[in-house]
Amino acid sequence: MIGIDLSGRRALVTGSSSGLGRATAEALATAGARVAIHYRTTRDTADQKAALDLAQALSRPGATAPAYPADISNPAEVEALFAALDRDFGGLDILVNNAGIDGPHATCAESDPGAWESVVRIDLLGPYYCAREALRRMIPKKQGVILNITSVHEFIPWEGYSAYASAKAGLSMFTKTLAQEVADQGIRVIALAPGAIETPINRSVWSNPASLKDLDQKIAMGRLGQPREIANVAAFLASDHASYITGTTLAIDGGMLIYPDFRHGG
Ligand code: BGC
Repeated sequence: MIGIDLSGRRALVTGSSSGLGRATAEALATAGARVAIHYRTTRDTADQKAALDLAQALSRPGATAPAYPADISNPAEVEALFAALDRDFGGLDILVNNAGIDGPHATCAESDPGAWESVVRIDLLGPYYCAREALRRMIPKKQGVILNITSVHEFIPWEGYSAYASAKAGLSMFTKTLAQEVADQGIRVIALAPGAIETPINRSVWSNPASLKDLDQKIAMGRLGQPREIANVAAFLASDHASYITGTTLAIDGGMLIYPDFRHGG
């Protein structure tokens, strides 16, 4: 059995108070990394409590897990977040750009430009600001891994979510371009494209039997994924077992991208 060993690595997972981010923070910590939690704002007290509780759960004697609030779509706040990381961790080895929103459902013709922009700012500009700060710390050390959480919607068009699909497709190309820029500097950049995973972002779908049935039919394996099924892959990709993987997207989707409808007919 080959274990995943991230001891000595310092990681930041954006949007880690819930969902995939939370599971990823837990998996990286289980593999031995020191993990910093990030959450959106101190104005949402339930979210803040979840972040602080997780940070406490992941703290070890002599190795406190910090939790930082920041609006990742604001470059000044991202700069302050990384300054805090410098103070607490003295650098960064693993960045997981996980924080994201899908935005309100609206066709392009009906959409609100402000809402569309918010999705792109959080899902695409946020990862850019964070990657920029992370690389400034990783390049001098010639070591680091950046994992960008995209979605099957970097490939699959999604009615009513054009901002989300566009931002995720953009994040995919950002991943490849960054990977090309830093491949010879010891830094790997990889996208993970989750399918339908049971998290708060799609609760309204999986909590309703009719829409859950519809969603299950879009997945070759016929079931939603669990957050740990993404988190375990993130830990592997962040580790030296994945030392020859960069500049690509790994779909983790139970076969959503293999057109399950084509099991018959055609
Ligand atoms: C979305 C989920 C959705 C899934 C499959 C994800 O990117 O966040 O809400 O269920 O894609 O459509």
